[in-house]
Amino acid sequence: MKVLVTGGAGFIGSSFVRYVLRMRKEIDVVNFDLLTYAGNLRNVEEVAANPQYQFVRGDIADETQVENVFEQHRIEAIVNFAAETHVDRSIEDSRPFLRTNVEGTRCLLEQARKHKISKYVQISTDEVYGSLGSTGSFRENSPLDPSSPYSASKAAADLLVLAYYKTHRLPGLVTRCSNNYGPYQFPEKLIPVLITNAMEDRSLPIYGDGLNVREWIFADEHSRAVLLALERGTPGEIYNIGSGHEKTNLEVVGEILRLTNKPESLIQFVKDRPGHDRRYSIDCSKIRREWGWSPEMDFASGLATTIEWYRTNQAWVREIKDASYLSYYDRMYTRRDQTLAVLDS
Ligand code: NAD
Ligand code: TYD
Repeated sequence: MKVLVTGGAGFIGSSFVRYVLRMRKEIDVVNFDLLTYAGNLRNVEEVAANPQYQFVRGDIADETQVENVFEQHRIEAIVNFAAETHVDRSIEDSRPFLRTNVEGTRCLLEQARKHKISKYVQISTDEVYGSLGSTGSFRENSPLDPSSPYSASKAAADLLVLAYYKTHRLPGLVTRCSNNYGPYQFPEKLIPVLITNAMEDRSLPIYGDGLNVREWIFADEHSRAVLLALERGTPGEIYNIGSGHEKTNLEVVGEILRLTNKPESLIQFVKDRPGHDRRYSIDCSKIRREWGWSPEMDFASGLATTIEWYRTNQAWVREIKDASYLSYYDRMYTRRDQTLAVLDS
């Protein structure tokens, strides 16, 4: 089977590409990625020479480019990881989020329909469900209540996939996973920001009171569930993916300080994110029951593995931080430093 994996040069997409090529001799992968600031071919360097693998640079929101990749590669199934993914960026400018996450999904669905693909897996997020209080968990039928432009764009894409199933019988399904962490995550998300800053003795920015809760899953475990979704998922269905490892941001930073042997004085409380969801928690009993999937990595081991990866791959981090096109990243840090100055005064 030939599978179009979009966004396969990003954090989770590259984990999936490496995993599938390791596990399945009968699956060929065409990695279709625009290589935005978050896409990095170093993430897929280890599979670059694999005869089952090809890379095509392209934009999912450009229907001609999507059509060309379908026609040149006889695509049979799609796993759509490609997205703009950072909540803070979506607050600053929501336009690329609507373009890639909504219009990009529509282009893929149209071409998938035209070329009669056998399965379409939409990679979504628990953030579409909004925020929880201190109890309860999201189920697949929980109402959609997104808080940020990022999660609103992901919810819109999910609805398009489900509508194409109902209207056109396009065999699409949606997976919704909790927060991922692990090697190759771009250092703008919480865990790699904390690890890379701690390694450089820079301050560790914690939004608000640090008591927001996220459910953390090691990215390779997510990839394992996505392969099951591709092979065993039922069209028209939604599948939650989670680990059960709920942590406050203060617990996460405390564990990183302990593992890197750095002082608590590095923690800096900064201005809260607008619309900051308080707690996510995901009920993934459906995939445990239907596919026999369960998470295997405990949080402490996953975090230790991740820290070790960033320690031994400092060149990867340096290359990203030195890239001149990353003006947003720099601006974000300048802004944080200014916020810190205000809080200190
Ligand atoms: P990422 O930001 O690391 O990577 C996104 C990838 O998509 C990059 O390689 C980028 O170049 C590519 N891309 C962006 N716009 C594109 C376009 N128009 N056309 C083609 N490629 C494009 O993201 P990630 O953290 O790996 O997330 C992957 C998917 O998983 C996303 O759909 C995201 O919503 C979802 N997800 C992420 C998390 C998480 O914690 N990171 C949790 C649940 C779901
Ligand atoms: P993030 O990694 O951006 O993922 P998401 O917003 O999609 O859950 O943030 C995870 C949590 O960490 C969230 O509660 C916001 C918080 N956070 C900080 O406290 N400091 C930071 O520098 C970042 C990036 C996030």
